[in-house]
Amino acid sequence: MKLKNTLLATAIAFSPVAAMAGDMTIGFSQIGSESGWRAAETTVTKQEAERRGINLKFADAQQKQENQIKAIRSFIAQGVDAILVAPVVATGWDEVLEEAQDADIPVVLLDRTVDADKSLYLTAVTSDLVHEGKVAGEWLVSEMAGEDCRIVELQGTTGSSPAIDRKTGFEQGIAGHDNLKIVRSQTGDFTRAQGKVVMESFLKAEGGENICALYAHNDDMAVGAIQAIKEAGLAPGEDIKIVAIDAVPDAHLAIANGEMNATIELTPNMAGPALDALEAYLADGTEPGKWIQTESRLFTSADDNQAIYEAKKDLGY
Ligand code: AHR
Repeated sequence: MKLKNTLLATAIAFSPVAAMAGDMTIGFSQIGSESGWRAAETTVTKQEAERRGINLKFADAQQKQENQIKAIRSFIAQGVDAILVAPVVATGWDEVLEEAQDADIPVVLLDRTVDADKSLYLTAVTSDLVHEGKVAGEWLVSEMAGEDCRIVELQGTTGSSPAIDRKTGFEQGIAGHDNLKIVRSQTGDFTRAQGKVVMESFLKAEGGENICALYAHNDDMAVGAIQAIKEAGLAPGEDIKIVAIDAVPDAHLAIANGEMNATIELTPNMAGPALDALEAYLADGTEPGKWIQTESRLFTSADDNQAIYEAKKDLGY
């Protein structure tokens, strides 16, 4: 009989087998390639696996949870040593995670969290997604220095943990500052194309002169929105302040050009800490904590964004 969601199940959740990196096969279920950041994470993960001599089986889910679930089932059927998954949305993972656990295959979450019992995965390598949103909100509070500001918000993929948490965090950051109001909030699905389309609709509905700031849950949507703002005859970064998240090279370039104001860095290297944890676990059963937190850092026009752009642009973004 299977033991599920009990303390005992938690204690015996995974039984590690000794595995050397050279013999290790890991399945990676990636969301897709919706953003520059996502493409960079894929590149870094492949590089990290190669560097360690790990055989990485890569599956691109084209933004669909059902494809991710199929990929995970296929990895289980192939008897991989471990699975990495960047979960597109937060819910609906329990069954497939239980299947992996029943097969003694540890699962590590990359960059997004899930609403499932923590005993069902080995660890999650993510940033503090709420904190990122809070930093963005606090930056805008300080930038506005008490002036009234009507904000539009471009949300990430509906139901994804960064969309939920970055919204919550931003609202926490501006809480108690009645001069700041979110007047429109809609998903742009983390893509440049949708960021532009939704920003156009915001500009039409509100009138560009009535929007003081844009908060975008990622840089790609902000870059798409910058185009929409320019086409509306306004100056992004001046007429409309822009703060977003990821710190991809194009965001640094936009800040260097005065077309964007701030971004919060999300490292694309989630695989490094994830593979460190998996190698230790598979070698001798060392259990990592349930959350391996990556650092977040705010960049503004006070930084040398041109130099950062030059340094980052060849890193696979
Ligand atoms: O989960 C991380 C988010 O997903 C990144 O901020 C975004 O660019 C990506 O698509």
